[in-house]
Amino acid sequence: MKTAIYFSGKYGSTRQYATWLHQATGYPVFDVAAPAPDHSGFERLILGTSIIVGAPTVKKWLASHWETIREKPILLFTVSGTPPGHPDLDTWLERHLPHEMRSAMDVVALRGRLDLSALPFWLRWMLRLAGKANQDPEAGRRMREGFDYMDKASLEPILQWAGIEAQTS
Ligand SMILES: Cc1cc2nc3c(=O)[nH]c(=O)nc-3n(C[C@H](O)[C@H](O)[C@H](O)COP(=O)(O)O)c2cc1C
Repeated sequence: MKTAIYFSGKYGSTRQYATWLHQATGYPVFDVAAPAPDHSGFERLILGTSIIVGAPTVKKWLASHWETIREKPILLFTVSGTPPGHPDLDTWLERHLPHEMRSAMDVVALRGRLDLSALPFWLRWMLRLAGKANQDPEAGRRMREGFDYMDKASLEPILQWAGIEAQTS
């Protein structure tokens, strides 16, 4: 099936996962922030999105393209600090994506990277404050200290969805 990968990220980890997927599948990969080619030629889409302040950054793109992609099989992968299976991930998607959209897509949660040294001072400061106020001590620590959970092997469920055998090396 003709498949394309579209991604929306801010700090590089969603791009990294999209690039690894491209390398494993040969599917073309597009950043939604750049003028991307028409997706009508693709039968299936893999969409990647980072989660920033509880919202999927691909939200606007999805809203403006939904009518033309809704009939295609779509897998959405999220990239965040929150571990897969955590209820917040469902809550955030349900809050920001209409039910019809959310239920039409398969969703895989991946964990990304937060390199505080790459952020502007004011954002580091805000994250530190938000981290201190966070009720969940583990989430608070992630916001204050940063993290790197990038894991190529976590792409396996996406490769399975695509019908491609994962490379172990
Ligand atoms: C300003 C900011 C807000 C964030 N908000 C959340 C959040 O609400 N929940 C979460 O799990 N991770 C959050 N993160 C962590 C990002 O989801 C994580 O760093 C992800 O890998 C970013 O993807 P990207 O590098 O493609 O932009 C936040 C990171 C930043 C910098």
